[in-house]
Amino acid sequence: MIIEPRMRGFICLTAHPKGCEQNVKNQIEYVKSKGKINGPKRVLVIGASTGFGLASRITSAFGSDASTIGVFFEKPPMEGKTASPGWYNSAAFEQEAQKAGLYAKSINGDAFSNEVKEQTIAMIKADLGQVDLIIYSLASPVRVHPTTGVTHRSVLKPIGTTFTNKTVDFHTGNVSQVSIEPANQEDIDNTVVVMGGEDWSMWMDAMKEAGVLAEGVTTVAYSYIGPEVTEAVYRKGTIGRAKDHLEATAFEITDKLKDINGKGYVSVNKALVTQASSAIPVIPLYISLLYKIMKEKGIHEGCIEQIQRLFSERLYSGTAIPTDEKGRIRIDDWEMRADVQEQIAKLWTESTTESLVEIGDLAGYKQDFLNLFGFGFEGVDYLADTDEMVQVHSIM
Ligand SMILES: NC(=O)c1ccc[n+]([C@@H]2O[C@H](COP(=O)([O-])OP(=O)(O)OC[C@H]3O[C@@H](n4cnc5c(N)ncnc54)[C@H](O)[C@@H]3O)[C@@H](O)[C@H]2O)c1
Repeated sequence: MIIEPRMRGFICLTAHPKGCEQNVKNQIEYVKSKGKINGPKRVLVIGASTGFGLASRITSAFGSDASTIGVFFEKPPMEGKTASPGWYNSAAFEQEAQKAGLYAKSINGDAFSNEVKEQTIAMIKADLGQVDLIIYSLASPVRVHPTTGVTHRSVLKPIGTTFTNKTVDFHTGNVSQVSIEPANQEDIDNTVVVMGGEDWSMWMDAMKEAGVLAEGVTTVAYSYIGPEVTEAVYRKGTIGRAKDHLEATAFEITDKLKDINGKGYVSVNKALVTQASSAIPVIPLYISLLYKIMKEKGIHEGCIEQIQRLFSERLYSGTAIPTDEKGRIRIDDWEMRADVQEQIAKLWTESTTESLVEIGDLAGYKQDFLNLFGFGFEGVDYLADTDEMVQVHSIM
């Protein structure tokens, strides 16, 4: 079939298998171009199919020759209906890993469930014995709690007072005011259950109990802080509470892993266009200003550049892992540089539908958004008849 992008708000209903393949290949090439990392050899990535998780899987495999198991929740294709992009990304990743002689298997299912945890542990036991690194990179709006069966939904709301600020519709470039009513306690609790650290902790407990964690194991989950303009809706909002919980969980995990010299970390990453971040109000406007400034300064990074740097200069640099005063790894250091943030604060007040074309990088935002779904890549013939029924081979 001929596959074109079909946009609905902040999602795209179609994905292009060849474009997703190109995306994965580009990321692999980038990692290879940076040279070998003296990193982990057996890696589990939870949330491995898109965004930071996919970049973590690619960096582990092609930077450090690691065997990887990837867990994700993606929609397979049906005749005449494309799969979700993470499905095609994973198919392409496995194909490239296989060509390179690297072990790669994937599990498609709900990572919050006991079943997927059991399945993953069985796969580790059978194929790898143990794992040295676990990356926890889930971004989900919903979690069915495995013990209670209750469905929890996360919300993106401020806490305390109504939040009013500018936002942009990145499809039209229209800058407008958005007002978001504050969350109630139930909203906060639900968001913490979905995006906080409980599930990460459950994964680590189950794997420790099963004996599949190697001596000196490391586990890393991803967090975000960001600037003052997004604070009310992000870091001091419901999602921020969940990130506080995730960050506190890292210490608890380190405590629980003491006897095997294991460590739990949170890495604070840069704001980037992913399926998760496009859904957060205000963030797209911030990102389009950020991209413009960071590109001008020559310090712009995408997921793969961020994670390659996280591995090579933080986690596996050969020296002690540097952390901030709260014990977090910071790879958002360039985003948070004073000169970058001062410029954003100034441009923020100036941004309107008319000015954004000049002062922001809306084109870059749109390009990245298209890329998430496998569209807009050079070297891909989008007019060609394309097989949508691409399979991820290791999935049973
Ligand atoms: N995008 C950003 O700007 C940004 C910045 C800093 C930190 N982060 C954090 O990075 C992490 C990953 O976010 P992302 O932006 O890469 O998101 P993403 O949407 O690109 O990736 C989410 C991944 O989680 C998987 N997933 C979702 N629900 C699942 C489920 N129930 N079971 C199994 N897999 C499931 C998806 O398949 C996908 O692999 C999140 O914790 C996010 O808060 C994101």
